[in-house]
Amino acid sequence: MFSQQFADFQQRHEQHSAQHFDPVAHDSKAAKQLQQAMRYSMLNGGKRVRPFLVYATGSMLGATLHDLDAPALAIECIHSYSLVHDDLPAMDNDTLRRGKPTCHIQYDEATAILAGDALQAEAFRIITQHPYQLVNAQQQLSMVATLANAAGLPGMCGGQALDIEATGKQLTLAELERIHNLKTGALIKAAVMLGAYCAPNLDDNVFVQLHTWADAIGLAFQVQDDILDRTSDTVTLGKTQGSDAANHKVTYPTLLGLEGAIEKRNQLAEKALHALSGIPYNTKLLSEFTDYLVTRDR
Ligand code: IPE
Ligand code: IPE
Ligand code: MG
Ligand code: MG
Ligand code: MG
Repeated sequence: MFSQQFADFQQRHEQHSAQHFDPVAHDSKAAKQLQQAMRYSMLNGGKRVRPFLVYATGSMLGATLHDLDAPALAIECIHSYSLVHDDLPAMDNDTLRRGKPTCHIQYDEATAILAGDALQAEAFRIITQHPYQLVNAQQQLSMVATLANAAGLPGMCGGQALDIEATGKQLTLAELERIHNLKTGALIKAAVMLGAYCAPNLDDNVFVQLHTWADAIGLAFQVQDDILDRTSDTVTLGKTQGSDAANHKVTYPTLLGLEGAIEKRNQLAEKALHALSGIPYNTKLLSEFTDYLVTRDR
């Protein structure tokens, strides 16, 4: 059952993450606080969608779970760092994340900035230092390049810059789609690609179909995030409902209306499912994830 498989991968990731971010002795109070802030930002109850995508895609293609542990943790480090910075006063200025005070509220702004920086570096340390079973040096290099592109200027950071610039302005649908593809889609797609890079003998056609699937679910994921900001509630979300409106953000519901946004999300899910149908592996889990994405309430 999908919910059980999702829970199993979530749990595997949680354990690996808790172990990796186990508090260690530090010689200074400052280093200890930074380590605590990193651990706080990682182990605070996210949905673990990106680790799930690494495990689900990679294991479908024949990668070992042991090898997938590294990219699953690395992508969650990048994602968690992006949230810590996204919540800062200079960006979305949010005080609640995953049901708890945001990092800069729990600690302070300097610590939150540094915790994000250090989590980003940690992601690359994890990818490059894992004792892989099947993954070779070339595959590791592909993972580093994929993660760097998805996290940086051509991906998440570039999208966040456009998001900040667009705040309070008018946007066309094409402009908003570009922002969403970059700020959120890039990391979702990277999660899928990292899983694929851990597999032996990846077929080009499968890679192309996975790209199409990942592009569609990446955008759909942020469209649903926009929808939930309007329709859900703070307790369910674990972050402040209505933050987008309060910040004068352009979102899919502001451009298309709620119904239009839902329609767009459903079309993207259809497109995603269509891409999966061309993949000669057991895509059941990926297709169930596609359904989960459009029905999730947090
Ligand atoms: C929230 O991501 C920010 C977006 C990119 C949409 P998630 O919805 O995956 O947040 P967590 O990790 O579950 O907290
Ligand atoms: C987040 O977009 C994208 C990131 C790169 C973090 P949002 O600003 O909509 O994410 P939430 O709603 O705060 O989680
Ligand atoms: Mg934001
Ligand atoms: Mg935000
Ligand atoms: Mg949002």
